[in-house]
Amino acid sequence: MTMKTYIHQPVNYGVKSMSRTVYVNGNYVPEEQATVSVFDRGFLFADAVYEVTSVLGGKLIAFDGHAKRLERSLRELQMDAPCTMDELKEIHHEMVARNDLVEGLIYLQVTRGAADRDFAFPKDTKPTIVLFTQAKNLTNSPTADAGIKVISIPDIRWGRRDIKTVQLLAPSLGKMEAKAAGADDAWLVEDGFVTEGTSNNAYIVTKNGTIVTRNLSTDILHGITRAAVLRLAAEAQIKIEERPFTVDEVKDAAEAFFTSASAFVCPVIEIDGCPIGTGTPGPVANRLRDIYLQEALKTAT
Ligand code: PDD
Repeated sequence: MTMKTYIHQPVNYGVKSMSRTVYVNGNYVPEEQATVSVFDRGFLFADAVYEVTSVLGGKLIAFDGHAKRLERSLRELQMDAPCTMDELKEIHHEMVARNDLVEGLIYLQVTRGAADRDFAFPKDTKPTIVLFTQAKNLTNSPTADAGIKVISIPDIRWGRRDIKTVQLLAPSLGKMEAKAAGADDAWLVEDGFVTEGTSNNAYIVTKNGTIVTRNLSTDILHGITRAAVLRLAAEAQIKIEERPFTVDEVKDAAEAFFTSASAFVCPVIEIDGCPIGTGTPGPVANRLRDIYLQEALKTAT
């Protein structure tokens, strides 16, 4: 009988072979030692909010916008902030330094904390705060060069999408459905109108050159990138309409794109198998991506 040898391969996170430094409740620890309680309400109830901030050249993009939205998310859920926003910025900078992060993302999550399981909010729990980094090439993106394909699917999320909670199962299922259909992402549709992408804000450019994107309400996340891109588009004299639009309007549009902190501006070239415009990345999306990147690098902190 021959002996079998079992070789234990180290886990490859696909980002960095070295262990990252993760921030958990005041401590910077190797990722293998970063843990939270099984009683954490983020784990048990998705009672948690998050932010994703991009990093270019070792600097934070639009940090103040993300901090403001975090404060708003916390307020809307009557959740305590784990620290001041100035302290949070320092922690972000420390995470960049400790992880040698030049380009990529910083993920931040705040939960209501750990307490015995109870639907009612517990009294006097300390919020849990976790940050980790993901190294990623954001500026040279093959996805942005080629554009993405989307499918339209029903928006089955809850009614407070303006709060950036970690209830991400519906978007996750949507992304899987898109992949199964040979597409890259899904645009969510409610009452006949597109709300947003699974993890981004959605836009079309009409044949007369007007950008159309859904108006802010509780139906969508108030994207930090959205705010910057609309301001830059207005400065570039591009007409903007903030209103709901239909999938038929997407099919009839000259171009389409999406925005998020992790992808900036990215063209969308197909919806439900139907090419949008020429079926290639459009000039407005490409121009806005360039303008946004220039501005982001200039204003990075
Ligand atoms: N997603 N809409 C949804 C549902 C989102 O999840 C996001 C961001 C956006 C864009 O917001 P911003 O421009 O502030 O990133 C819109 C992040 C990137 C994520 O979940 O990874």
